[in-house]
Amino acid sequence: MNATPELVARAQTLRRVLERHNHAYYVLDTPTVPDAEYDRLFRELQQLEADCPELVTADSPTRRVGGAALPQLASVRHSVPMLSIRTETDTSAKGVHDFDARVRKALDLEEGSAPVQYLGELKFDGLAISLRYENGVLVRAATRGDGETGEDVTHNVRTIRQVPLRLNGNPPAMLEIRGEIYMRRDDFAALNERQRASGDKTFVNPRNAAAGAVRQLDPRLAAQRPLSFFAYGIGDHAGFGMPESQAGLLDALAAYGVPVCEHRVLSSGPDGLIDFHARMAAMRDRLPYDIDGVVYKVNRIALQQELGFVTREPRWAVAHKYPAEEEITELLAVEVQVGRTGALTPVARLKPVFVGGVTVTNATLHNEDEIRRKGVLIGDQVIVRRAGDVIPEVVAPVVDRRNGSERAFEMPMRCPVCGSHVAKDPDGPIVRCTGGLFCAAQRKQALIHFAGRRAIDIEGLGDKLVEQLVDAALIKTPADLYRLDAATLAGLERMGDKSAANLVAAIAASRETTLARFIFALGIRNVGETTARDLARQLGSLERLMEADADALQTVPDVGPIVARSIVDFFAEPHNREVIAQLQAAGVRWSESGPAQLSSERLAGKTLVITGTLPTLTRDAAKALIESHGGKVSGSVSRKTDYVLAGVDAGSKLAKAGELGVTVLDEAGLRALLEGTE
Ligand code: IVH
Repeated sequence: MNATPELVARAQTLRRVLERHNHAYYVLDTPTVPDAEYDRLFRELQQLEADCPELVTADSPTRRVGGAALPQLASVRHSVPMLSIRTETDTSAKGVHDFDARVRKALDLEEGSAPVQYLGELKFDGLAISLRYENGVLVRAATRGDGETGEDVTHNVRTIRQVPLRLNGNPPAMLEIRGEIYMRRDDFAALNERQRASGDKTFVNPRNAAAGAVRQLDPRLAAQRPLSFFAYGIGDHAGFGMPESQAGLLDALAAYGVPVCEHRVLSSGPDGLIDFHARMAAMRDRLPYDIDGVVYKVNRIALQQELGFVTREPRWAVAHKYPAEEEITELLAVEVQVGRTGALTPVARLKPVFVGGVTVTNATLHNEDEIRRKGVLIGDQVIVRRAGDVIPEVVAPVVDRRNGSERAFEMPMRCPVCGSHVAKDPDGPIVRCTGGLFCAAQRKQALIHFAGRRAIDIEGLGDKLVEQLVDAALIKTPADLYRLDAATLAGLERMGDKSAANLVAAIAASRETTLARFIFALGIRNVGETTARDLARQLGSLERLMEADADALQTVPDVGPIVARSIVDFFAEPHNREVIAQLQAAGVRWSESGPAQLSSERLAGKTLVITGTLPTLTRDAAKALIESHGGKVSGSVSRKTDYVLAGVDAGSKLAKAGELGVTVLDEAGLRALLEGTE
């Protein structure tokens, strides 16, 4: 077919409209049209291009899906080298002041003269990329390589929806935009989940997954890896009206439709940077992507140029890193712990290693299948990861550091605590001790759980004390706690008269509780805090819960056949009924009508989904707040979602909300709703 002027015009319109929707969806996170409409326009353009190939352009959105695989990646010489930034090891206030002093000295600034302006940015943990736009059209994407020569990865970068194929506005004749390609943590988790489900190998961390995807030879494979992008600078350019400052440059890039990170700070002198470093450190775990530090840059471009470079590093920028979240150490041994429900959990004993800001000496290995899947052997050098408050994890062995003395772990056939036989769950990888409450390990864990802050809440009764009490045969069941007296307790190791009296008072105070806490405290398998609360609210009394059959239980929100079975099995056990009777005899009481601490019923029957970082509430606090008003918090957006509570950097969940027409609230909106001012 020949390209008539009408067809040329139509193709052009379609390309513009599709890219605008893309930008709204992937960069601004505010979808403008339903998926179906986007797909329809996309297919129309695809058809047009198939019918007359001369309509295809480099910036056509159809080229994002990935073409043919390449035999190898071509080399690209960077006309402006891609340099690295000096890492300042001293991340204290002194480190920042030293940087400022070096800058001021190099600029010959007199003491007491005006402070230098700096821009603080995040240091994204991905891989550096240079995107070359000619007359606004993306013509080439290259990796950093050795800084002088990188690899041409245009075919893969085109598949990244956040990277515009054409710049908005009035772009210059030529502009190389530099930034970081990364993978969001939620995208990384979902990718690994898919890899696991299909029996493929999982990725060690988001950075490796992103780097692998960008250097793929087959763009169709790259297109299946969800990548994101942030710009932080430029390389070569022609016809570009260079802004006066780094902040202005980022704004200009954003105006072209390029994603830039919102977390940045302009500081007059170094002090604001110290504050930024601390603020971002506190926020690090809640960001949707990994960062390995912050970067400080002299803001004025003219000053940057004056400062120039030493060796291969700019004098005008410095990186302040945060503690690494991954380190390598030796897996000394695998020990087996027995949990409250009898589950045998292999735990890695590690040569102490400083990672994620703490010294880690052990990490859970979950179960035997997990160990096999990761391929770790005892004696291996292993990668240990501790991100934020997440418990440390053994990620993978460093296979090429093996010397042949490593050996495989084997699950014991008998419980290491009580010697009972172990049995594998029929429907999962978990192996359990069959000893039940005969097993001291299970007894201890059940008691620790019972006394916990979110359960019966006995202040001062920690793990160590429970262990001592069980080992000294002073308690066997939770009911025994209420028979302890101060004199007995004071006889224990490291326990003074005062602590003993306090503990007796705390135990006494715990008699007054709520039904939800009591149900949770029983430690019924698969019944967590939320389920306990739902059960209390719906059934209203312990008697009704004890008598309910599996069908009745499944009328409670989120209680399915497995949870229902666990509850029925628990109450079918005479021993458990006995303990409950003893607790009631010991004076443990609760308000029968469900959790008395509900602040209001404003969210009763409503389901909310939380996404992004909220200005003042942590995720747990937001959840607690919602629940205290009778609402429920769910992990994913569906038609049943009533509200999406969105903060900064909300991603796909917010997009989904837009698609389904779910009401979106910010934190202030939620508060207004709870106060009834909305
Ligand atoms: S500026 C001439 N800004 O860190 C300075 N780099 O050592 C050019 N990086 O691999 C770099 N976030 O990809 C700059 N906000 C940021 C950055 C950043 C991450 C990476 C960069 C490179 C390394 C620099």
